[in-house]
Amino acid sequence: MAIDPHFEETREREGTEREVDVWGPTDPPETLGIRGTHVAVDFDICIGDGACLEDCPVDVFEWVDTPGHPESDRKVNPTNESQCIDCMLCVDVCPVDAIDVDPGRENRI
Ligand code: F3S
Ligand code: F3S
Repeated sequence: MAIDPHFEETREREGTEREVDVWGPTDPPETLGIRGTHVAVDFDICIGDGACLEDCPVDVFEWVDTPGHPESDRKVNPTNESQCIDCMLCVDVCPVDAIDVDPGRENRI
């Protein structure tokens, strides 16, 4: 299952964490929701592969520990999503389609 590109319509924005928007539902540590808006990472799909973090030319992502999550114990937070240049490398390399980037989608914070 890939990240839902229409999450702004289908999910509720619960607030922010680590400087990015959080789109629920969340029920930590098993359910963590989607993080970020312009650069959105579905933490419940991410398996901690890391290719996105390695390939992003402007270092949008940083690791965060997520102990107790069923898919992986670390995820990539799009902390610097305001720096994104829409190259789409992260979207292309993620093996589980956990990332969606939309140049027309504005950050809420
Ligand atoms: Fe980086 Fe992905 Fe944007 S690789 S520049 S966060 S489209
Ligand atoms: Fe996760 Fe995909 Fe990146 S699995 S660490 S979002 S390449």
